[in-house]
Amino acid sequence: MRAGRLQPTPTQRAALDPAGPDMRDIVAYLAFLSRGVTVSPPSAPNARLQKWAAFTADTAAGARVFAASCAKCHGAEGKGDTKMGQKLGCKDFTDAKVQGEMKDDAATKAIKEGLKSADDKTLMKPFETLSDDEIKALVAYVHGLKK
Ligand code: HEC
Repeated sequence: MRAGRLQPTPTQRAALDPAGPDMRDIVAYLAFLSRGVTVSPPSAPNARLQKWAAFTADTAAGARVFAASCAKCHGAEGKGDTKMGQKLGCKDFTDAKVQGEMKDDAATKAIKEGLKSADDKTLMKPFETLSDDEIKALVAYVHGLKK
């Protein structure tokens, strides 16, 4: 092997954005692979690592369903900044205040039974095909979107 081949290629040198969607996908995938394996949270004062340590397979399952069924309105990052999301008034799930006001049972009910506006317009259709476990995973995932 030529010594030169041990040099990193330019693409390997570019660091992934730690807060970007690629990193989120990788973390979700790793969490999925390590499901059932108990890991204690890192002791180092690293908020991001500690947050990731709290991820379970449930969160990974939630990430998958969210990307497929929810992101077109709520946005891949949960910011509600898609065309549909803006039209319907989706809130920013990364906002701590929005998260603080969102209760688990209300979120579960909204996903299961749908959501209507005060003037009876459908904001979100009921997701009747999702199992209770999937909805639980989604609620956990949505909470995890908080920045
Ligand atoms: C057609 C667009 C649309 C789709 C698709 C959609 N939502 Fe919503 N969702 C909304 C709107 C609009 C609201 C009301 C504004 C808000 O709270 O962001 C809402 C509200 C919510 C809330 C907040 C409920 C509360 O109590 O505050 C949760 C949680 C939620 N959606 C989760 C999901 C999940 C999970 C999916 C996918 C399974 C999904 N949504 C798919 C439009 C959508």
